Amino acid sequence: MRTPLIAGNWKMFTTASEATTWARALLEDLASDPVRGVDLALHVPFTHLAPLAPILRDTAVALGAQDVSAHAEGAHTGEVSAAMLKDVGTRTVVVGHSERRADHGESDELVLAKAAAVMAADMVPVVCVGELEAERAAGRHEDVVVAQLRGSLAGLSPARADQLVVAYEPVWAIGTGRTATAADAQAMCALTRQVLHELFGETGTAVRVLYGGSVKPGNAAELFAQADIDGGLVGGASLDRDSYLAIARAARSNA
Ligand code: 13P
Repeated sequence: MRTPLIAGNWKMFTTASEATTWARALLEDLASDPVRGVDLALHVPFTHLAPLAPILRDTAVALGAQDVSAHAEGAHTGEVSAAMLKDVGTRTVVVGHSERRADHGESDELVLAKAAAVMAADMVPVVCVGELEAERAAGRHEDVVVAQLRGSLAGLSPARADQLVVAYEPVWAIGTGRTATAADAQAMCALTRQVLHELFGETGTAVRVLYGGSVKPGNAAELFAQADIDGGLVGGASLDRDSYLAIARAARSNA
């Protein structure tokens, strides 16, 4: 059984002080009504990691970053290394998000190097893939995603399935309110799992595959009921505590 994972991605929203208040309130909500059988993570801006670490340490909520440098150290102004993230208590790191691929020209090769740096620092990369609207319209979505998966993952060597997470996020569904249908999302997550099997054998089959793109409380249960969708990478709805918890509870009811 794969434990569902509900991973928030706060992108460039909130201040660190807002985040600490938010996280304390989340823990109070969880204390009064725990979400058992579901793993939780929050991927926050770099500035929030150190203040959130003592609040989330030893709780059910993993502290996550949204990016990392592929370099170990050096003259790389503005970059943050995997060792630096690990040192402040980060447990998971999103790499290859479509916004970084689009806004910063990140290639599969770079995403692979970042994922490897995260794993080498004993944290879990959440590797993102997903096609553009025009690629889907042209019927190329499967080829695009398979190529991204091979390019961003081949060469990693997870010894255990819990050392890696993959998120399928169709770019046209991100922040648009246009969620993929549950059937389309399932088909792409099943394809993702096939590639994971090809690359990593049985270990790959057990890696968690998340769906991302306008996941909301109203569509979460149907998405998470699909055989190959092991939870969600949630943007906008993860900024609202009630929505985030409702989405987590939707995963629990399907676990
Ligand atoms: P939304 O949930 O806001 O569509 O964002 C999805 C996403 O990009 C998560 O990484």
